[in-house]
Amino acid sequence: MDPVEQLREKAKQATLGGGKEGIQKQHEKGKLTARERIEALLDADRFVELDRFVVHQCHDFGMDQRKVLGDGVVTGYGTIDGRLVYVFAQDFTVFGGSLGEMYAQKICKIMDLAMRTGAPVIGLNDSGGARIQEGVTSLGGYAEIFWRNVMASGVIPQISAVLGPCAGGAVYSPAMTDFIIMVDDISHMFITGPEVIKTVTKEEVTFEELGGSRTHATKSGVAHFACVDEQECFTTIRRLMRFIPQNNMEDPPVIRSDDDPNRQDVELASIVPDSPEKPYDIKDVIVRVVDNSDFVEIHRDYAQNIVVGFAHLDGRPVGIVANQPSVLAGVLDIAASMKGARFVRFCDAFNIPLVTFVDVPGFLPGTDQEWGGIISHGAKLLYAFCEATVPKLTVITRKAYGGAYDVMNSKHVRADFNVAWPQAEIAVMGPQGAVNIIFRKDVQKADDPQKKVDTLVREYREKFANPYVAAEKGYIDDVIEPQETRPKLISALQMLQNKRQTLPPKKHGNIPL
Ligand code: HXC
Repeated sequence: MDPVEQLREKAKQATLGGGKEGIQKQHEKGKLTARERIEALLDADRFVELDRFVVHQCHDFGMDQRKVLGDGVVTGYGTIDGRLVYVFAQDFTVFGGSLGEMYAQKICKIMDLAMRTGAPVIGLNDSGGARIQEGVTSLGGYAEIFWRNVMASGVIPQISAVLGPCAGGAVYSPAMTDFIIMVDDISHMFITGPEVIKTVTKEEVTFEELGGSRTHATKSGVAHFACVDEQECFTTIRRLMRFIPQNNMEDPPVIRSDDDPNRQDVELASIVPDSPEKPYDIKDVIVRVVDNSDFVEIHRDYAQNIVVGFAHLDGRPVGIVANQPSVLAGVLDIAASMKGARFVRFCDAFNIPLVTFVDVPGFLPGTDQEWGGIISHGAKLLYAFCEATVPKLTVITRKAYGGAYDVMNSKHVRADFNVAWPQAEIAVMGPQGAVNIIFRKDVQKADDPQKKVDTLVREYREKFANPYVAAEKGYIDDVIEPQETRPKLISALQMLQNKRQTLPPKKHGNIPL
């Protein structure tokens, strides 16, 4: 055969992966094929495939008779909005997308290239796990990927879409990347499946309940996003990329903003209720402050008492961390602390300034929390804010009580710009709790204890539960009107754009994991 004809023939064969039947089965399951996924994710016609003629080297179990060009994973590079990204897409039509030695080498090759060229890696996972016929070589292949995931962590962004099964140790590669995105009905992640669980613990659970997208987006927090379909998943990845730099040596991409940096929003003043006990939705504040109300929330359905996500301020990407008074009064608990800490560390690793909105009554009391280790988990958030050296801005909208005041990006943990709204209450605890403790005897002795309590609470509130004690000490830089928040944050970000701060030399810190 003419060599060019031969190449074309082989290329055609490689494109078919596991063959027409496999592709049909994949579609019947409501899933796209590996190549269709890459096409939907990247800019049109920009994908360059590598290693399409790689085949496995396994001879056992009749595998020498079953070689498929590409070996079940499509790898290469392309662009998203013109910016270079590396991609691998596991092809379930070939041996169930299972991973063997050569398959792993293909993934490792693009991970190595991504490290050398400083560009993100996006993994599209859909696999039956370690290729059973290849034995320990497939386990070795996984470990090679895991090691690279860790080396790349904090150097290049890593994003994982889980678009099919992802079971056993295979879950640990996505788990070590920065974001996990799952899709309803088709994505399942677990260490041990329903059958094994039934044998060991006698629990009966479906695939979906155990490791479906909604489970991981709400209960475990393993998934950062749960999407209704694959298209939404790819749009989410493309949206995320707008806030993320290519690598840790670059700043995130600044875009042209048509939202006036000096825009003041008078409605902000009426969002926080007069009564400190009443809830409000902090997202109403966030969307009024950021460019064009465009806020990409991460972990939207998990630990909703803290809100994290990306937005732009005058075109500059920022990471927002905010207590949510409408859920558990915005209290910090184990899940919220871990969610916040992981996000703060991502932003810090990739030079994304942090904007923190504070309205926090403290840490959640209870044996559940104490025995679950709130001490160590709460410390993660504190640790993350302390070690972050990106520009750090804080707006106290209402309560900043106790340890949570310190934790939530206070001046003392080296925030650069701290302001409070006039109704802010910055104190060791709320007035009622404080009066109960420090004036217990006076109240007991009083003729009318309730009247005494009311008077003491009023006095405490006037003296301590306001922003001016902190302002007098310079712990906050200013008290501002709510409507000024956007212009003040934007000017502070400009002021901080050349911020340089380094940590003491060390191998690594010892975050309370
Ligand atoms: C080799 C595999 C495979 C595997 C699936 N296939 N998983 N081949 N190694 N791990 C093959 C099947 O034999 C079948 O081939 C084809 O892929 C499609 O599989 P089906 O079972 O027909 O598909 P489906 O009904 O959709 O079920 C998908 C599945 C199931 C849930 C993933 O295949 C399954 O349970 N597979 C085993 C999963 C597993 O236990 N993997 C090891 C996990 S431990 P034919 O030729 O018939 O089309 C692990 C350790 C990682 O991965 C270690 C990291 C440290």
